[in-house]
Amino acid sequence: MGVLQGKTIVLGVCGGIAAYKAAALTSKLTQAGAVVRVIMTRSAVQFVAPLTFQTLSRHHVFVDTFDEKDPAVVSHINLADSADLVLIAPATANTIGKLALGLGDDMLSTTLLATMAPIWVAPAMNVHMYANPAVQTNMETLLRRGVRFIEPGEGQLACGYVGKGRLAEPEEIFAAVERHFQGEPGRLAGKHVLVTAGGTVERLDPVRYLTNDSSGKMGYAIAEEAVRMGAKVTLVSGPSALTVPEGVQLVPVQSALDMREAVLSRLGESQLIIKAAAVADYRPAVVAEQKIKKKADSLTLELIKNPDILQEIGTLKTKKQFVIGFAAETEALDEHAMDKLKRKNCDLIVGNDVSQVGAGFGGDTNVVRFYDQNGLVQALPIQSKWDVARKLLELAAERMAAAAGES
Ligand code: CTP
Repeated sequence: MGVLQGKTIVLGVCGGIAAYKAAALTSKLTQAGAVVRVIMTRSAVQFVAPLTFQTLSRHHVFVDTFDEKDPAVVSHINLADSADLVLIAPATANTIGKLALGLGDDMLSTTLLATMAPIWVAPAMNVHMYANPAVQTNMETLLRRGVRFIEPGEGQLACGYVGKGRLAEPEEIFAAVERHFQGEPGRLAGKHVLVTAGGTVERLDPVRYLTNDSSGKMGYAIAEEAVRMGAKVTLVSGPSALTVPEGVQLVPVQSALDMREAVLSRLGESQLIIKAAAVADYRPAVVAEQKIKKKADSLTLELIKNPDILQEIGTLKTKKQFVIGFAAETEALDEHAMDKLKRKNCDLIVGNDVSQVGAGFGGDTNVVRFYDQNGLVQALPIQSKWDVARKLLELAAERMAAAAGES
């Protein structure tokens, strides 16, 4: 029995030419055993007849909020409650905007407001509409609230333009839905993953320390997703306010030296090592035993270099280990990232320009680029740190499987 058997998927279809692709998607989902409840916007009905979706899904199609078929229930609440997943494909700029603003003026938007199920959005629109700052801001807002996006593809658009905005193919959307219900099983089963996260704390005296802005969110998201993919996960983390994801073994540390010790002592048992931590490059040469007292007008702190943990791992790693580093930069991202990758002998490096909106420390989103020894592998647009984590782990799993096949 497939993973979609008996799952209720509420499919929102908006008014765009890509609405015809939603018919193919409905058919695939229904054939896989899912209960597909289709809601169409008034504009969608201009492109495809509700009868098409009714026939393919074998269920009544909802268009009008007030067209209540069953007096025993309020349809939009009933639909919202019954959903295991709400998927909008194609999603127009208008529906995305309404969802971001919390507006409910039709069957789809009211259902979206009422549901507690995960919401996925597969946008489709003209390339300039997609790039419009208002649309981008709405998508960022939704991303921060946990809405997941299935990105549009690039290519010939129905409006005549060539560019980004074409609805992802039904096969692609179907595969993502299937993976969601499978919980990405087994891609890292049997693997031990060692993740570092957060910023280190370098003590000056008993009440003062040097640290950085790292929140730990990227590393925690990686640890959480690695567990979902079946790995045994150890998370070596500097102080962080985040909740430790279920199934993750936490090793709390303070300084770069503590982190080095925690990581190197576990290196042998790990097949995948991901260094998302922001490690302090320097530490105070002396840690005062007592609180430093205020005396002269100026105070000079002497700092000494910390060991580079990633570089050490790069020298120690065996052929069976896969190492991923991070490079947070404010300029010349490609050059700095490639330089670090080579210098520290990583298999992959994740570069992010922390000066960009939606990237870097503290937030729930990131804008990253993956590089390997040959250069850029993938440049991802803004998305949640969990989506970045999943894509990074999928790439690592693929590369590790390929390497195992070769040896
Ligand atoms: N790193 C590490 N140990 C250190 C410093 C950095 O393991 N002492 C790791 C980080 O966890 C990250 C990668 O190296 O995966 C890059 O960190 P970054 O601070 O950007 O690199 P640096 O070599 O310190 O370069 P920069 O001059 O930009 O600070």
